[in-house]
Amino acid sequence: MIPDEIISEIRSRADIVAVIGQHVQLRKAGRSWKGLCPFHGEKTPSFNVIPDKSFFHCFGCQKNGDVFTFIMELEGKSFIEAAEQLGQRFGIEIPRVEENPEVRRAHGERRSMLEINKLATQFFREVLADPKRGEAGRAYLEKRGVGAEITDKFQLGYAPPDWHGLVDFLKTKRADLEIAAKLGLVAKQPKAGGYYDRFRDRLVCPVVVPGGDVVAFSARVIGKPPPAADGSEPPKYINSPESAIYKKGKHLFGLYQAREGMQQTGRAVLVEGNFDVITLHQAGFNQVVAPLGTALTLDQVQMLKRLAGAIVLLYDGDKAGYKATMHALQTCVEADVEVLVASRPGHARSGGAGPLSGGVDPDSMVAGGGAEQLRDAIKNAQGGIEFFCFEVWGKARTNADAKTRALEEVGKLVGKIENPIKRDLVIDTFAKALDTDVALVRNAVARASGQGHRGPAQGAPQRHPNAPSSSSFASSENTPEREKTPGPPPIEEVELLSLLADHPHLLATPEADNAFWLLTDTRLRDMYSAARDGRSLLAQTSTAVQNLPSPTIKALLSGRYVEAKDPSALLAQMTRDLGHRKRMTQRRELEKLMVEAQRRGDRDMARKLALAAEAVRKGDFELVDQLMAEIASNRKQAE
Ligand code: CTP
Ligand code: MN
Repeated sequence: MIPDEIISEIRSRADIVAVIGQHVQLRKAGRSWKGLCPFHGEKTPSFNVIPDKSFFHCFGCQKNGDVFTFIMELEGKSFIEAAEQLGQRFGIEIPRVEENPEVRRAHGERRSMLEINKLATQFFREVLADPKRGEAGRAYLEKRGVGAEITDKFQLGYAPPDWHGLVDFLKTKRADLEIAAKLGLVAKQPKAGGYYDRFRDRLVCPVVVPGGDVVAFSARVIGKPPPAADGSEPPKYINSPESAIYKKGKHLFGLYQAREGMQQTGRAVLVEGNFDVITLHQAGFNQVVAPLGTALTLDQVQMLKRLAGAIVLLYDGDKAGYKATMHALQTCVEADVEVLVASRPGHARSGGAGPLSGGVDPDSMVAGGGAEQLRDAIKNAQGGIEFFCFEVWGKARTNADAKTRALEEVGKLVGKIENPIKRDLVIDTFAKALDTDVALVRNAVARASGQGHRGPAQGAPQRHPNAPSSSSFASSENTPEREKTPGPPPIEEVELLSLLADHPHLLATPEADNAFWLLTDTRLRDMYSAARDGRSLLAQTSTAVQNLPSPTIKALLSGRYVEAKDPSALLAQMTRDLGHRKRMTQRRELEKLMVEAQRRGDRDMARKLALAAEAVRKGDFELVDQLMAEIASNRKQAE
């Protein structure tokens, strides 16, 4: 841990305008500086930097903080890494105290991994530029219409066909080849010993994160590679494996390059392939990214949500692209971000159209001179939810069974819309357009959301990839709040405390305080309060005073979030998820009480319940808590 004095010194000495100015264009306005917020898409600047207070604040999305928060959020660094970066830049020495050896080793390894990836990027780029060695790579890029500017923008390189180019280069740089092997750049020779290059005769696309670090590579074949030893075709792409610096599903290809374009247009355009990203940027679409071959994850959507107001899905016009579109749509709705589907060229807005037609991908459309058409398709993109509903329904008009299934699917998606007004609107539009009874749709939605939240994990895949796979923690979703027998606390709440235990500096943030009101387990609440008063969460756990079951204690002590790349983003995500669940349970509980109150003609109670419902909607859980306590005591008296 870094001593407090050093942290405050960094905070006061670091020039926050210069730090933020690297990412955002700032203009002086009186005592503060203004710019377009990097955390949400906007056209007029509501992002303020106040140097006197070493603080930034966005009036649009309410994000605020200091230099540390800014770097952690925007560059995905840990607190220590942010402190080191700032210390180095502003000449403040950071003493290395009390870091336990394991953590220190982990940090050291991350650092050398990034260093090696940087060297490798340099190597591949040098080879590509070499008149002789890079010829094949350059010819390929030329064939795909990729010019010098985009080659540089994406730091594209070429891995030579020989087996030792990179290995030799890394040796001259005295890089640790064992770490290079962990990064998937080189591999150990089984018998002879030593290492060989894993990427050969491939075009290398670095995966760059917003701070500029290269965390992985995606390398595409360019020639006709010799078949593998077992006669099979080598894969089109070889990607870096997961490592301490790279987690699949948490990165997007092109994010670093598309950030500005997204801010300018307020939109993020999502395509399937890396090459679609590259050639679309070449054609002037500079807000395009791709999910690196995985099905779109909630993490990825949330990253985009920070940068753009809406996500436009522009997947391939084949069956796989269609399926991926339908999946991505649901993830976007779950993340509560506006999602649009690029309409089929030439058939814009005709209901039931597929994303792109006839197996076309965006890249080949551009290559075939269809850039204008593509521009229209993006411009005229239609609402994703409507697209989903009409698609599902359109396929099922024929018989009752199919219709039922379609309604169920629609219900599942619409149930995920958090905003009740929007939800009603969609239900209404849908029923009208399809000439179905509104009640039928409403019913399907109610049923689907009831189901979707009975179990803990349903409809919420890969929320916290770091969470333990064991499901021995029972969910307490259906037990009334705050009357828990000392069973295990809900796993999501334990995760939240684990995160705070590993990153205590998050404790004093408004985000964390907000999360406090979302805890339903009193033991965890008590621990949290004590932690705010300065008692370490870890210390509290080891004394086991809280009557917690041992798996919970183990989870709290695991240190699984020590290495988290972006703890404050994780906290935000966990808070959102907890809020979402809490909203669901509270809403149901309130509806039940409301029915009861109306039956009794209890006006006063009904008014209180309406207030509570409003507070739930606004996410003011402190107020919800207070009102619920009053409501409970009123009910006791009435009995
Ligand atoms: N992908 C992968 N491994 C493969 C094939 C595909 O990781 N063997 C991932 C890559 O991220 C790729 C994406 O899936 O970009 C989409 O695949 P595809 O459409 O085949 O690749 P493109 O990049 O579009 O390549 P191209 O246009 O050159 O065919
Ligand atoms: Mn493709």
